[in-house]
Amino acid sequence: MEIVENLLVLLHLLGMAAIVGSAVFVARGRPTPALLWGARAQIVTGLLLVGVVEMGDDPVNHAKIGVKLVVAIAVAACAEVAAGRARRGRGERPQLVHAAGGLAVLNAAVAVLWV
Ligand code: HEM
Repeated sequence: MEIVENLLVLLHLLGMAAIVGSAVFVARGRPTPALLWGARAQIVTGLLLVGVVEMGDDPVNHAKIGVKLVVAIAVAACAEVAAGRARRGRGERPQLVHAAGGLAVLNAAVAVLWV
């Protein structure tokens, strides 16, 4: 089970890299497929990780997980709305892309600093 958990952590970190890399460092306000799929991947890999960690002996901090889930849904909502608007030609909303990147950084801080 440890290998599954480690692989999920790897995918989780790549998802974070896709969001933060795209929103903060590369796309400068444009919603990219990397942002969108990274945001979706964080929710899926995060929930799978909770399941795998629950199976082990280490305790799971449910308050922290709850906060991360709410923030991750906000990240995905910002990315989906920004991408949907761009797809329909309704103009770009760089603020939404920046919000997605900033919230992902917040979630990384919650993951690492909330012990
Ligand atoms: C934008 C969204 C997210 C970001 C940027 C993010 C970031 C991170 C980071 C950087 C870690 C590694 C922390 C460490 O190993 O010290 C981590 C671990 C973890 N995350 Fe997330 N996360 C996100 C969403 C979620 C969601 C939605 C859930 C669950 C509902 C979740 C559940 C977990 C769990 C259970 C771990 C611990 C894995 C382990 O130690 O085995 N994450 N996250």
